[in-house]
Amino acid sequence: MDPIARVQAPGLAETSKPILELRGLTKAFSGLTAVSEVSMSVRAGHVHGLIGPNGAGKTTLFNLVTSVFPPSAGTVLFEGADITGQPAHTVARLGVARTFQNVRLFGDQSVLENVVIGTYRNTRAGLAGGILRLPGATAEQRGARAEAMECLAYVGLADLADRQADALPFGQQRLLEFARALALRPKLLLLDEPAAGLNDGETEALARLIDALPGRGITVLLVEHNMDLMMSVADRIVVLNSGFKIAEGTPEAVSADPAVIEAYLGEEETQ
Ligand SMILES: Nc1ncnc2c1ncn2[C@@H]1O[C@H](COP(=O)(O)OP(=O)(O)OP(=O)(O)O)[C@@H](O)[C@H]1O
Ligand SMILES: [Mg+2]
Repeated sequence: MDPIARVQAPGLAETSKPILELRGLTKAFSGLTAVSEVSMSVRAGHVHGLIGPNGAGKTTLFNLVTSVFPPSAGTVLFEGADITGQPAHTVARLGVARTFQNVRLFGDQSVLENVVIGTYRNTRAGLAGGILRLPGATAEQRGARAEAMECLAYVGLADLADRQADALPFGQQRLLEFARALALRPKLLLLDEPAAGLNDGETEALARLIDALPGRGITVLLVEHNMDLMMSVADRIVVLNSGFKIAEGTPEAVSADPAVIEAYLGEEETQ
């Protein structure tokens, strides 16, 4: 979407408040502090980037936001409410979805079933109803399948709905995970290196998908090493290094920031 269209998107005035706010977020593992006193906010209706060298703490920060584990210190606010330490399924139900750095799919299930699983937070009968076939689940199951098909169509995989997930090439598996995250109807979508392993054409297609999400009411927090992709979609970028936030600003500003350049040069020297 071009910037003008984004500015003119309906409801932007109310959506430019922070949807996610991190205050002094810290995660210590034995002997190592992976995330150190990170404060940042993600404004609704935007694509926000999170970059940093390998081991900077990006995935750990995602794990804190999605409550894979609790922080050692600090607070996570979602839509102004403190969700620190809430169970992961509660955070998901509030509208936070993610994809994983290493694709996680049910490989022996069909493409469609992998996305149907993502829709269950929206159905009354829920996952148990789907599995146990409780009364009332059937109509919802049909709805869930229709919704899953829409998500597959959005990422261009509708024709492959009946294929087994692990029969797809890697690039399409990443898109499938993307579709499953969308099926949760998230307000905030965390994408952890979605372009890793994709070819140039797939990466360009992904950039268009990500760029269109704010127009669909989905705010994005994107971790990505592909700087061309990051520069083309992010409005604002936070830079982590060794767990600390070292810079924040527009893509142009952070890419010219000496501390950021030094952090990445340091990485090259150690590789
Ligand atoms: N569950 C864990 N237990 C112990 N240490 C961990 C755990 N998860 C991450 N770490 C360590 O925390 C640091 C940050 O890791 P993290 O995966 O968050 O980095 P990253 O920025 O996502 O890196 P990459 O770009 O390589 O994905 C690393 O030193 C990592 O080894
Ligand atoms: Mg990572």
